[in-house]
Amino acid sequence: ANEDNIGSLKEQIAKVFEVSLRVTVPQESDVAPLIAPCAKKEFGDYQCNNAMSLWAKIKGKGTDFKGPQPVGQAIMRNLPASDMIESCSIAGPGFVNVKLSREWIAKTIQKMLTDGIDTWAPKLPVKRAIVDFSSPNIAKEMHVGHLRSTIIGDTLARMLEYSKVDVLRRNHVGDWGTQFGMLIEFLFEKFPSGEVNDQAIGELELFYKASKQRFDSDAEFKERAQQAVVSLQGGDEKYRKAWAQICEISRKGYQKVYQRLGVHLEEKGESFYNPYIPGTLDLLREKGLIEESEGAQVINIQGKKIPLIVVKRDGGFNYASTDLAALWYRLNEEKAEWIIYVTDVGQREHFEMFFTAAKRAGWLPSDENAYPKTSHVGFGLVLGDDGKRFRTRSTEVVKLVDLLDEAKTRCKAALVERGKAAEWTPEELEHTAEAVGYGAVKYADLKNNRSTNYTFNFDQMLNDKEGKLILEKDEERKLGLHLLQFAEVVEDACTNLLPNMLCEYLYDLSEKFTSFYSECQVVGSAEETSRLLLCEATAVVMRKCFHLLGITPVYKI
Ligand code: ARG
Repeated sequence: ANEDNIGSLKEQIAKVFEVSLRVTVPQESDVAPLIAPCAKKEFGDYQCNNAMSLWAKIKGKGTDFKGPQPVGQAIMRNLPASDMIESCSIAGPGFVNVKLSREWIAKTIQKMLTDGIDTWAPKLPVKRAIVDFSSPNIAKEMHVGHLRSTIIGDTLARMLEYSKVDVLRRNHVGDWGTQFGMLIEFLFEKFPSGEVNDQAIGELELFYKASKQRFDSDAEFKERAQQAVVSLQGGDEKYRKAWAQICEISRKGYQKVYQRLGVHLEEKGESFYNPYIPGTLDLLREKGLIEESEGAQVINIQGKKIPLIVVKRDGGFNYASTDLAALWYRLNEEKAEWIIYVTDVGQREHFEMFFTAAKRAGWLPSDENAYPKTSHVGFGLVLGDDGKRFRTRSTEVVKLVDLLDEAKTRCKAALVERGKAAEWTPEELEHTAEAVGYGAVKYADLKNNRSTNYTFNFDQMLNDKEGKLILEKDEERKLGLHLLQFAEVVEDACTNLLPNMLCEYLYDLSEKFTSFYSECQVVGSAEETSRLLLCEATAVVMRKCFHLLGITPVYKI
């Protein structure tokens, strides 16, 4: 199906204009068409904005054109015959407006219904991408920040996958580091026989807290814990085994959350990259990037007050050295062209610094738009109603599983209240409560521009939307055109790493559909067949939107 991919609407229009541009100004043969939706809808659907910049290039070089407007006129005249375009007009200093033909819109939608929505997948300039998301830290709490990372990362991965990019979904879990010395030592103390199981460790977060308390209050324990880190990193089998057990218990907990959210991830934790750190640092050293500073080894970054520490004073590696090794691995072993990291904005500095180091090492081009490329997708905090960091009632840590439980419970109660318990089978009730409950949690997160903080509020997210009815003429055409714009919205959402663009599109789509539906009779009308097809196309696109947002649509409500 790959070859059948027709590209976005904008691309299709660009193709027609490209032909005209070549004829109009043959001397500027590498100028790309600049196509955008019309600023003023009454002028048309799309406009070509090349005239002005072309004029700037050719004036004074023996051209017959007398200004940008004639250039625009020539671009319009030279457009090849196309059943896509109904009419054209010129505005201002040479903008060429095009109005798409109704028949062509209808035909294109109908073709999608036969060939499938995958033929509408946008084309992106990358073959393989890595999305590094979720990435909680073992034994420490998986907090709502990790929930945001999971939801946003999953949607970005889904949109890239739809665009036929090979996506490696990476869970960069914090499974290495000094906290393990303390945990392992505490484990040995509590279970000298080595008889550990999930029950014995119990709630891993509580276990973490208890061991931390011991670590902070007992100097002798602290020393043993520090020694344990050395033994673990030295590969001592007893310590490795204890480490693996702790990781496994954590993993089971995460898996429950991922399963509920329908999110798939592949774990390659920090420990995986540990063996690659010395070699990576050697490469950076050869480039003269690493310097000594107060006993630590650092990379100085221009414009930053603090350097990036890559080897701590005690000789140990850290978050930054791990990320550098992981980047090396992803570029060279996994051949990723675009590496996307999804974390809270608080980590922006860290990413900026090691991206800069990688550029200085020549691993990444200095041009921001060239590939291979790294992007940090930062998101804002999750706030409670009180405007402070979100916490559930009494406990200080928000247990993600509890949170999802609550979303489901509330949904179920609402459905029961509407009498659905009598109408539906228990399975239907259960399934719908989950789909709507988890879907609401995801939508509430994804609809915001990710960089803003968002307020977590069950009542708001589970509220049914009261559709505002806007009556306009030409509802069918508006809906049709909006459907056609699906691919470019996905493309823009991918390119800018902004899932909220897709949410907006979906929202607009349901509004446009509502206007259409209230204006145009479907069943029993003379246009019944055609309108049913339009309904079906809307459903197909909507379903795809839901899928890309990781939300399970329900068919009964
Ligand atoms: N474990 C980190 C945290 O919880 C997130 C890791 C993000 N990925 C990365 N490659 N640094 O804050």
